[in-house]
This record gives sequence, C-alpha cells and structure tokens, in this order.
Amino acid sequence: MEAKASLPLKIRVLLFLLHAATKSAYRPNGTVNRRLLNLLDLKAPPNPKPFKGVKSYDVSVDPSRNLWFRAFVPTDHRRPGYLPVVVYFHGGGFVTFGPDSRPFDALCRRLSGSIPAVVVSVNYRLAPEHRYPAQYEDGFEALKFLDDNPQELPENADLSRCFIAGDSAGGNLGHHVAKRACQSQFQQLRVIGLMALQPFFGGEERTESEKKQVGSLTLNVERTDWYWRTFSPPGEGWDRDHEVINVSGPRAADISRLDFPTTLIFVGGMDVLQDWQRRYYEWLKRSSGKEVNLVEYPNMVHGFYAFPELLESKQLILEVSKFVNMQMERYS
Ligand SMILES: *[C@@H]1O[C@H](CO)[C@@H](O)[C@H](O)[C@H]1NC(C)=O
Ligand SMILES: *[C@@H]1O[C@H](CO)[C@@H](O)[C@H](O)[C@H]1NC(C)=O
Repeated sequence: MEAKASLPLKIRVLLFLLHAATKSAYRPNGTVNRRLLNLLDLKAPPNPKPFKGVKSYDVSVDPSRNLWFRAFVPTDHRRPGYLPVVVYFHGGGFVTFGPDSRPFDALCRRLSGSIPAVVVSVNYRLAPEHRYPAQYEDGFEALKFLDDNPQELPENADLSRCFIAGDSAGGNLGHHVAKRACQSQFQQLRVIGLMALQPFFGGEERTESEKKQVGSLTLNVERTDWYWRTFSPPGEGWDRDHEVINVSGPRAADISRLDFPTTLIFVGGMDVLQDWQRRYYEWLKRSSGKEVNLVEYPNMVHGFYAFPELLESKQLILEVSKFVNMQMERYS
C-alpha cells in the first residue's frame, strides 16, 4: 500500500517487533506479563543538567499509589516572562509505559523545548492491576497537587495558563481530566487548552477503519478490545458504549454548560482509531461551544509522534507550539 511505503523500513520493523513482543505479554485471560513488559520498556533517568535545552526532575505526589510526575523545564529559550504549563499523559492502552519510558521522555523534552513550556508528565496507575477510575483519579490528583504546591515548579511557570495533553490512552485520560477540571475550583490553576494526539476512544459498533483493520502494523481491533476489557471494572455490566469510551455517542456526557477548553486533535490516516477520533472532533464542536481544531496526517500510523525523524512528527510539535502560543496570547 502506498501509505505504508511512506514509513521508513527501520520504523516499520521496529513497530512490527514491538507489536509481536507485546502480544505474548498481553494474555487472553486479561492478565499481563509485567516482567516481559518492563523488559521491553527501556527507561530514561531525569536530567538535572540541561540536555537539548531542557532539564528534568521527578516529583512524588503520593508514594502510596506510586503517583509522581517528571517535570521538563526549558533552559535555553528567549521567551520573557511566564511559561505555560503542559500536563502530559502518556499512551500505552492504560496498561504500559510511564513518563520515564524513553519515547515519552524524549517526546516531552521536545515539546518543552519547542513550545517553550514547563511539561509535567504524569505517572498514573496502570491496568489491569488498577482499573477505571484509578487513571482518572490520578490524573486529576496531579492537577490538584500542582495547584496546592506551585513551588514544585519553577517560579516563572504560569499555572493560570495550563494545558492538558495526551496521546492515545493519555488522550482519553486528558479529555476526562479536562472535563473534571472544568467542574472544579482551583486556587490558581486554569486549563486553557487541550491537545489530543490520536486519542483512544471506541464503542461497540465497528467503524469503517476498524472493519478494514487500517494500520494494523501498530494497533488492531483485537488489541483495542483487549485494552478496553482490561481497563473496565469487572462485573459491572460495562461495554464499549460506556460514556468514558464512547464519548461522543448518545450516552455522552453533557459538556455544553462547562467552560471546556479549546481543543486541538491529531488524527492519522493509517490509524485504526481514526473514525472514533473524527466523531470526537464533531461532537466537541457541536457541544463544547468552543473552537476545536483537527489536524490530519493521511500517511501516519498510531504512535507516529514517537519517531522524531518523521516529518509529520516534527510538524506535530510545531502545530502544538503554535496552538499553545496562540492560547497564551488570548489569555494574556
Ligand atoms: C492467566 O494466565 C497466566 C498465564 O497463562 C497464568 O499464569 C495466570 O495464573 C492466569 N490468571 C488468571 C487470573 O486466570
Ligand atoms: C457509540 O457511538 C456511536 C457514534 O458516535 C453511536 O452510533 C452509538 O449509538 C454509540 N453508542 C452508545 C450506546 O452511545
């Protein structure tokens, strides 16, 4: 296929190997082989000395549930005054990865340096050991912690101009945390933008891209079904039409009265999830009363942003930077 051919061979091989290796770690009975997953998940330590113009450090929020975040601070930028704060939620189907996983450490560093912004990448609890709503609670708790403990961020970090961002499962998480933030009172924190990179939504119905198994090199329907089963609490009559999964269906939450933030959504034309993401976009546009922007990359598979050598990955960083800086102006 033409679109497939546009991914460099090295990346295709890597994606294929990763998918094959994780296949045996994700068991049909809903448990995971953590030892194998951890082996595949290479970690990066924080960098107190600036690396590529960004330093990083880890902050513990609640050790009892291993809730912590990695802060990325740009050291080499020309912006006077305050920096925006971007709270980031990594992807991995709610099951794997963390802020210290190499691809996410690198992605957050790129975002921090390019925007420039203080990026706070959250280590939330993972399924199946911790199912819904553990992830949403942790995500929200991280916001509250920042609001209560601004001294954990540099002095020029502006929590009143805060953004939420996430990719894949982290995009789903970001949406729900943003929604809860709208319904909450903070001392100074205010969310003024949401960035959803190929967010993970779904439903019982099979969309066209799911029927055709588009982009099955990185993600397929068997895997997404498995992720949802693993995330859902057992024995409560959950299905994929639950409002946290099928966000835009008839059971959707009513957000029309909330001050939901302006949103930027990225969709890949080779991603099995693309139709759900477009529905999310349409639904937000209809119901949030806010501006919603959609950026499509026709040749991109799920997770392409993790490969900095791809042109589209660079473009995504630029689009995010543009969006954040535009919102910063609006709320200045
Ligand atoms: C699931 O399968 C694994 C490996 O086949 C096994 O070790 C484990 O005990 C099983 N767990 C449950 C809850 O069935
Ligand atoms: C899930 O979403 C789709 C379209 O967004 C809709 O057609 C379907 O009825 C939804 N299901 C429920 C129960 O919300």
